Amino acid sequence: MKPEPPLPPFDFRRHGHAMVDWIADYLERAEQLPVESQVEPGWVRAQLPQSPPTHGESWDAVQRDIDRVIVPGLTHWQSPNFFAYFPANTCGPSILGELLSAGLGVQGMLWSTSPACTELETLMMDWLAEMLGLPARFRSPEGGGSQGGGVIQDTASSAMLCAAVAARERMLARDPRAGLLVAYASSQAHSSIEKSLRIAGIPASRLRLVPVDEHLAMRADDLRTMVERDRQAGLVPFLCVAAVGSTSTMAIDPVTRLAPICRDHAMWLHVDAAMAGVAAICPEHRWVTEGAELADSWCTNPHKWLAVNFDCDAFWVADRAALVRALSVLPEYLRNSATESGKVIDYRDWQVPLGRRFRALKLWFTIRHAGIEGLQRLVRTHVALAQSLADRMRADPRFIVIDPQRLGLVCFRLAAGCEATSALVRAVNRSGRAMISSTRVPTTPDGKERQVARVSIGQTRCTAAHIDALWNLLRDTLPP
Ligand SMILES: Cc1ncc(COP(=O)(O)O)c(C=O)c1O
Repeated sequence: MKPEPPLPPFDFRRHGHAMVDWIADYLERAEQLPVESQVEPGWVRAQLPQSPPTHGESWDAVQRDIDRVIVPGLTHWQSPNFFAYFPANTCGPSILGELLSAGLGVQGMLWSTSPACTELETLMMDWLAEMLGLPARFRSPEGGGSQGGGVIQDTASSAMLCAAVAARERMLARDPRAGLLVAYASSQAHSSIEKSLRIAGIPASRLRLVPVDEHLAMRADDLRTMVERDRQAGLVPFLCVAAVGSTSTMAIDPVTRLAPICRDHAMWLHVDAAMAGVAAICPEHRWVTEGAELADSWCTNPHKWLAVNFDCDAFWVADRAALVRALSVLPEYLRNSATESGKVIDYRDWQVPLGRRFRALKLWFTIRHAGIEGLQRLVRTHVALAQSLADRMRADPRFIVIDPQRLGLVCFRLAAGCEATSALVRAVNRSGRAMISSTRVPTTPDGKERQVARVSIGQTRCTAAHIDALWNLLRDTLPP
């Protein structure tokens, strides 16, 4: 008797083709859908059975629920009218890379558990380093570097955590007073820094928020003063995080001026270029990598602005041994001759989890399909659209652009005040025709914190027509 298969039969070919069709249709029609999900809390759950089915259901029923329940509960990040937070763009080749990764279902924790998964990732990180003009110290030995290398993390937050743990271990090897460690970042730096430090056992009280200048960039002199004061107090400065493209306003910390302070105090310098870093693919924006040759680690997110779907953070270290020393634990069941030969990378030692997906596929497919030139065009289009929107705002006295406007982000406030700015953001989002977001930052001329609206331009399908429509919507929505 033939044994029963553990799962019911599934016509993967037919349903798979239909799902690809559905995705292709979705990407085309996303711009017609209200950008921000209009559902009330609890609505999605209420549409579904509260307990799982005992017997398998027809696939048609599952497919129907995507349109009935899931789509209304989505905020459409793939709509070209999505301008909130940061881009999370994607493209066909990247989606197929993700699909292939799921289909292959390999675990790339060790080189030996799937050599292609590791070696393609190392090569992609070398490709990307070359595309962004990053220094040789971040490349693998095979890619022209020596001690360093790159790894794909799920997020910039994970990259931050790995950098924090590597920095902590490196410092503890010199000075074992773990309870006295102190880290530094600007008051504009991302919340993932505090979270990572907390996970790494360093309380928020040991994260010093360094004051910023009128462009919201970290003041190097203040960093030096704070580090020296902490040293005199017997504390142990060990990490400085520079934001190159802060989330709120794309502020740029002066990496080249922070680096000597870090060097003088043997502190790890991590550069968080999550949003802005990929712009370096265009020679005219390569300033975002300034000082990278002085950093211990550097990260950027192809999953934000390089058409590679989430999750794909590119994280490089100048000294891979420091990272591996911090994160490697070798149990008996993972021992193998390739690891013992010392000739291979085991990426489990470069990240927090053991298991890892074959993420390099989506990067490989995207880069091969678009080429450097195609990806440069993507970035240049968005930067030009952002400039055109900012120019229109500058010509209208009701809008105040937060300068310097950089890359694909336009931050502005209304001359009518904070409440008017917040009301505008709410009204635009309620309209369903576009989605923008807001923040609160110190503003010129008096340094007072004010409500600021953010238009983040980076969706793959966004064109001049969408920016025209947004500009009209903003003006039509202005409070009287
Ligand atoms: C500057 C910066 N750093 C870190 C992050 C966190 O990114 P992720 O979601 O990849 O952890 C963001 C996301 O907005 C960011 O803008």
